[in-house]
Amino acid sequence: MSEEWDIINMDRDDNSDPDKMIEEMRASIIEDARETFSEEVVKRWLNPKNIGKMEAPDGVGRITGPCGDTMEIFLKIRNDRITNAFFMTDGCGTTIATGSMVTDLATGKEIKEALKISQEVILDALGGLPEDSKHCALLASNTLKEAIKDYLAYKSDPWKRSYGK
Ligand code: FES
Repeated sequence: MSEEWDIINMDRDDNSDPDKMIEEMRASIIEDARETFSEEVVKRWLNPKNIGKMEAPDGVGRITGPCGDTMEIFLKIRNDRITNAFFMTDGCGTTIATGSMVTDLATGKEIKEALKISQEVILDALGGLPEDSKHCALLASNTLKEAIKDYLAYKSDPWKRSYGK
């Protein structure tokens, strides 16, 4: 049998089950990610907690980082305590992981405590990130601060929030 025939056969075998191919590609991507990132990062990237928008939030932060990724954080706050936090992002897997972690860390905290959730705190909770992904944690920390600032800006006059829209 010619070498050309072998190649044609191989192509046919490879394309015979697209579902299997997709599953294999996905498994390979996850395996690669596990070599680079901690288990916590991979878990939150694949299954992010707290992702989504929030109806009538008490505080919203939205920042686009120097890399071009944007994160939004939505907070529900009662008596200066964060009772619920969601995030959205158009960023990569590590941005998703940091958004998921920062909203988890902020939930249940008084705003004074939540302001202490720095880039380092997020990195520690995630088990670290590679050098070139550390800025994702800074984006998450800054976006949380922006959402708290937004809450404080409207705190004494909450009616202004709906008036401006
Ligand atoms: S790659 Fe820029 S925030 Fe994640």
